[in-house]
Amino acid sequence: MTGQPQEHWGRVYSDKAPGDVSWFQSEPRHSLDALVRFGLPATTPFVDIGGGASTLVDALLVRGWSDVTVVDIAAPALAAAQARLGEKAARVQWEVADITRWNPPRRYGVWHDRAVFHFLTEPEQQTAFRRALLAGTAPDAHVIIATFAPDGPEKCSGLPVQRHDAASLAAALGSEFTLLDDWREEHLTPWGTAQKFIWCVFQRADD
Ligand SMILES: C[S@@+](CC[C@H](N)C(=O)[O-])C[C@H]1O[C@@H](n2cnc3c(N)ncnc32)[C@H](O)[C@@H]1O
Repeated sequence: MTGQPQEHWGRVYSDKAPGDVSWFQSEPRHSLDALVRFGLPATTPFVDIGGGASTLVDALLVRGWSDVTVVDIAAPALAAAQARLGEKAARVQWEVADITRWNPPRRYGVWHDRAVFHFLTEPEQQTAFRRALLAGTAPDAHVIIATFAPDGPEKCSGLPVQRHDAASLAAALGSEFTLLDDWREEHLTPWGTAQKFIWCVFQRADD
């Protein structure tokens, strides 16, 4: 990577159409299924970490989710999502922030992260993520995390990633979070390459 993460990701979203990135999915099926499986009410404060230009926020609004925040390091990603949503964008909180430096202003009931945590390859980055997670999740909060699986790609967007299984994610999140479920996904990129993902749902169980 040349430059800092913020520049890298800003360039990615400025240079590419939303549907031309490997992580594009037309429907955020696994995320939505998880919310239904765990019976999470649409009033639960929801934060999408590294949400980028994902259409998850659109799908949440359609389903009546009323308290949605999207955080991303790349301002152009959030601008693309806002342009797509039009006036509905005003119903969402948007924050440009690096998750490893973010001070959550409040505690959320759902913390969602698809394909962001695996970019945190250094122990201190993971510790910083955990600090934000602890500050930004309410008691009993659900944490939905998807990363590349142990047999998934070694890089994404030209950056090295750390691949995970449920045990390594549980260790990274810490003892406050209990693993409720995990499953695998074979994500197909827009150009038809298969990428192995692991999905985990944790619940905060310490207070
Ligand atoms: C592979 S994309 C996934 C985007 C989105 N979650 C999705 O499923 O479509 C990774 C996203 O994480 C964001 N990102 C990378 N590092 C970040 C960091 N340290 N803090 C916040 N966002 C970050 C990028 O800008 C990008 O939008």
